[in-house]
Amino acid sequence: MNEIIDLGLRVREAVPLVQITDCHLYADPAGHLRGAVTRRTFAAVLAAASHGAGAAALLATGDLAQDGEAGAYRYLADVLGRCGPPTFCLPGNHDVPAVMAAELVGPNVHHPWRVLAGAWQIILLDSTVPGSDDGALGTAGLARLEAALAAAPDRFALVVLHHPPVPIEGVTPLPVSLADAAELFQMLARHPQTRAVLFGHIHQPYEALCGRVQVFGSPATSLQFDTRAKPVRVAPLPPAYRRLRLMADGHVESTVCWVPDAMHAGHPGHGGG
Ligand SMILES: [Fe+2]
Repeated sequence: MNEIIDLGLRVREAVPLVQITDCHLYADPAGHLRGAVTRRTFAAVLAAASHGAGAAALLATGDLAQDGEAGAYRYLADVLGRCGPPTFCLPGNHDVPAVMAAELVGPNVHHPWRVLAGAWQIILLDSTVPGSDDGALGTAGLARLEAALAAAPDRFALVVLHHPPVPIEGVTPLPVSLADAAELFQMLARHPQTRAVLFGHIHQPYEALCGRVQVFGSPATSLQFDTRAKPVRVAPLPPAYRRLRLMADGHVESTVCWVPDAMHAGHPGHGGG
């Protein structure tokens, strides 16, 4: 997480990105999460995301493996290594960061903390807390964010992490699953070039405007949750990914792309890879 990558785009160019999140992959190819064979749903989503206009990079925003298994990361590294653009990876609460750092390696797969792209800087922050499903940036994470923002005051900033820094009904008993969300937004307010925050974890789409900051949460490549139901249940929605375009004027265009075919690909009774 110390690497700085420069994608080298022109400042007047939009930066097209794809976010994939909450893949919950297993070492066992048949491993499934509440009926969704997550390798199959992931493969179908990645195939759909690879169609059409090319992304400059993929952002993989955590819970990439269900149980932090080495075999799950090796599978993911193999698939992403054959994918077109580079992938920038972050851990989630289901990941084991040390195993992920050791095994999710290969061509096209990176774990940077800063990415420079056109008029933008993308800052990737590990929000995991060992032994907890909730997250925090901690003193060290906030210091890294401050350093990244201070290093590039003339670039718009997109902050990427796994845990939502905003309240999401039903996701956790806490009001916000990122413990230091208030400190995060205070810091972003001191650095007005920050224009967007992107996260995973919630297995459902979310979009809001917090001051000048566009905030995006995204559905999973595995399965979605209806967190407003009591108790929380699996939502009858297909796997998905998110497209983003970081515009040269500091605005972000984004859409969630649902992949209905992946729902059938992910059912354990269905044939295919
Ligand atoms: Fe997840």
